[in-house]
Amino acid sequence: MATPEKDQDKSAELYARALELMPGGVNSPVRAFRAVGGTPIFIRSASGPTVADVDGRIFIDYVGSWGPMILGHAEAEIVSALAGVAASGTSFGAPNELEIELAAEIVEAVPSIEMVRMVNSGTEATMSAIRLARGVTGRDKLVKFEGCFHGHADSLLVKAGSGVATLGLPDSPGVPQSLAQHTLTVGFNDAAALEDVFKQHHDIAAVIIEPVAGNMGVVPPARGFLDFCREVTTRHGALLVFDEVMTGFRVARGGAQELYGITPDLTCLGKIIGGGLPVGAYGGSRELMRNIAPTGPIYQAGTLSGNPLAMTAGLLTLRRLRDRGIYEKLETSSAKLCEGFSRAAIEAGIQTFTNRVGSMWTSFFTDQPVTNWNSANQSDRQLYGRFFHAMLDEGVYLAPSQFEAGFVSAAHTDLIIDESIAAARKAFLKIGENGVKGKG
Ligand SMILES: Cc1ncc(COP(=O)(O)O)c(C=O)c1O
Repeated sequence: MATPEKDQDKSAELYARALELMPGGVNSPVRAFRAVGGTPIFIRSASGPTVADVDGRIFIDYVGSWGPMILGHAEAEIVSALAGVAASGTSFGAPNELEIELAAEIVEAVPSIEMVRMVNSGTEATMSAIRLARGVTGRDKLVKFEGCFHGHADSLLVKAGSGVATLGLPDSPGVPQSLAQHTLTVGFNDAAALEDVFKQHHDIAAVIIEPVAGNMGVVPPARGFLDFCREVTTRHGALLVFDEVMTGFRVARGGAQELYGITPDLTCLGKIIGGGLPVGAYGGSRELMRNIAPTGPIYQAGTLSGNPLAMTAGLLTLRRLRDRGIYEKLETSSAKLCEGFSRAAIEAGIQTFTNRVGSMWTSFFTDQPVTNWNSANQSDRQLYGRFFHAMLDEGVYLAPSQFEAGFVSAAHTDLIIDESIAAARKAFLKIGENGVKGKG
């Protein structure tokens, strides 16, 4: 796609300036390319399946702003609606009709949600959901799974995935030990360990899980694992919290809970429900949600929550996703992409193991099945970094870390998928020729 032009390097100039002004030159750590080396690319614009950098190079984009852009970038209907809404005021700090419309859309789509509260990010959603779980159970302890990432609230930055794992900081300084001690971790897909933790602790408020993990790279739940999470939490009077910030409206319209037929007590959403603007939400039964202020005593609030711009982008995105045909198309194109990548790796003599659920996937540079953080962590990250740069040279922008999901959008046409596979074939050959064949 991109005819990469190397003679200009505006990104490098901007990065040098950014480094003086922002930690690591970025506003979110993985963007800094630490895991893959080199200089981050500064994006000027995006359209459909592509992003364009400040040097005018165009890349096929599989980051999709880390998940929200399921319809592709700068979708025409959304852009024009946003312009209209902005002209009428961007935030009122008072109720508006669009909040009701987006809430209704979420309640209709997500099986376990009868009532929902809008916030401004996934982090706020998970932080608020665990406060609610602690508040209603009167218990302090939480269980989370190694390699799962639920945003950066203190209680959840324990053995976390995403940038925390990428940078090797699974337990962040600054989280008081007195708080972290309430967060218990077990291996993803490890039912016996989960059973054990409930035997050892009788004050567990909630188990929070990414029902399809996306933040150690994509790791699907083992058969029956989510059912076990449901059963064990019910048996012990704890709440089951599905963090569907990534999977919500991504793996199915009703998220992973629709796909796997599990009803969690609370669900956290973000990314797609904001259509590319900052939004999060958490929801559950009326009975549980009525414990939130002002109907109940558990406090949570937000200056910009429910603002009309974010509600509009989310609402139009979710309305478009009523068309189940979009999910069928995403399944077909994502399957083709992953098969193409796997075949290209084999042809180049490089071992990869690909996990995919719907339009989220990760090709791990390992010969072992990846079922949890320990197996994800066996991947050859250096080789991933070389693949990442070889793909950039071929005009394809992947996540700048092995421990992230790739996202296909509805704007990734068959032609774009074919171009991406052709790029992967060249990229795998290039890194194979350099004498590195992967682990095992
Ligand atoms: C599963 C999951 N939960 C929570 C979050 C945090 O969301 P945000 O970055 O909007 O705070 C993320 C972000 O990637 C996520 O993937």
